[in-house]
Amino acid sequence: MTPAPTSPARPLAFIILAAGKGTRMRSEMPKVLHRVAGVPMVGHALAAARALEPERIVVVVGPGMPEVEATVAPHPTVVQHSQAGTGDAVRAARGALEGFFGDVIVLFGDTPLVTPATLGALRAARDAAEDPAVVVLGMRPRDPGAYGRLVANGRGELEAIVEYLDATEAQRAITLCNAGLMAFDGARMWQLLDAIGNANAKGEYYLTDAVTVARSRGFACRVVEAAEEEVVGVNSRADLAEAERLLQARLRRQAMEAGATLTDPGTVWFSADTRVGRDVVIGPNTFFGPGVEIGDRVEIRGFCHFEGVRIAAGAQIGPFARLRPGAEIGPDAHIGNFVEIKNARIEQGAKVNHLSYVGDARVGAKANIGAGTITCNYDGFLKSHTDIGAGAFIGSNTALVAPIAVGDGAIVGAGSVLTQDVPAQALAVARGRQRVIEDWAISFRKRKEAEKAARRK
Ligand code: UD1
Ligand code: MG
Repeated sequence: MTPAPTSPARPLAFIILAAGKGTRMRSEMPKVLHRVAGVPMVGHALAAARALEPERIVVVVGPGMPEVEATVAPHPTVVQHSQAGTGDAVRAARGALEGFFGDVIVLFGDTPLVTPATLGALRAARDAAEDPAVVVLGMRPRDPGAYGRLVANGRGELEAIVEYLDATEAQRAITLCNAGLMAFDGARMWQLLDAIGNANAKGEYYLTDAVTVARSRGFACRVVEAAEEEVVGVNSRADLAEAERLLQARLRRQAMEAGATLTDPGTVWFSADTRVGRDVVIGPNTFFGPGVEIGDRVEIRGFCHFEGVRIAAGAQIGPFARLRPGAEIGPDAHIGNFVEIKNARIEQGAKVNHLSYVGDARVGAKANIGAGTITCNYDGFLKSHTDIGAGAFIGSNTALVAPIAVGDGAIVGAGSVLTQDVPAQALAVARGRQRVIEDWAISFRKRKEAEKAARRK
């Protein structure tokens, strides 16, 4: 990510609007909690804001949105009781910014792709010679749709923002749109907001009207343009899918720029917090849920699913591996096909190559876990731990009934159901003994054939 431009000495505050009901999402869940690349949209807005190290961040939520409050904690929230529009929402934050006279950036919780660099540019534009009271982030989307239109002159001087529903045909033809983010001079913003009315198509207090008010008082307003890819606003599920597509493209690019090979980038899905080392190779159709860290030189063959996992340098994973929260894969370990690992540490050079479930366990360095091994970690009530020592060899199709420990260097015969600990360097075999009866098959067939013939008569 490009660093934010160095900021002026004035203090900075953010107001993040997250109170809207998000009716167009048709969801029980507040809109800003819908996730993009594994993170709630409001979390993306917060992360971008935090990168500028502001003095204050205030999140405006609707009444009865405890999940939003929990998601943005420890940042303070204020409740907008009426949901009477974006201007009304900003007004709700006034008390929380009592005595603050620096720059105030208003950010929408439904605009998750904005970068710190762009927020920095928005803020830097407040330093223009004519001391603009408001700086608006503009964009020229391929499909301007229902975005607000910016009425500006060629010099970036802004006269008004017209909401789509209120716009004339001529105004709707304007391609420069309102991305929704605005930087205000904190010393003048509240007088602008106080003057905003609600005589418009929606009967709402539009934040966007701050521009007309500012112009009527002779204050300058400016536009800073951003790429559409950064400022798509999410109002519907289709918009959410579009935001996901754009963010995935960015994350794939970042992973490749950081030195990873993506065999088929379009089929690799990252979370915003996925960390990928150098010379990592990621095969097709791989999904990274939140909390995944991949060390250098890791090879991930295709069709893997990860969540809450750390993979150390040089490990080989997949194809078709599922690593669940708390899996820690040590350096040079091998995890093969149809293997599920949960809350388990697989130490250096250990191998779990085929068709196994390893949960609530430790597998020591260089241990070899045979095909079809299962840690029986759950008795219907409690989870228990399995400990496998360094260099142990677990034969195929072994069931380890936890709690249980297999010592260093021990060998377990294939097909065993182990219920007791195995000492280091011992052999454990826990299965029916094999009996061999010579020529039994011949006499069996004879007997059966005679029986069949007798029935036919
Ligand atoms: C808004 C802008 C529009 C711009 C678009 C960009 C206004 C009036 N319009 O329209 O010019 O092109 O964003 O995406 O600002 N919210 C509240 N309280 C409310 C209403 C909204 O907190 O009473 C929050 C929402 O949770 C959301 C944000 O404000 O995060 C934007 O609201 P939304 O209803 O999505 O505005 P748009 O119609 O997208
Ligand atoms: Mg919106």
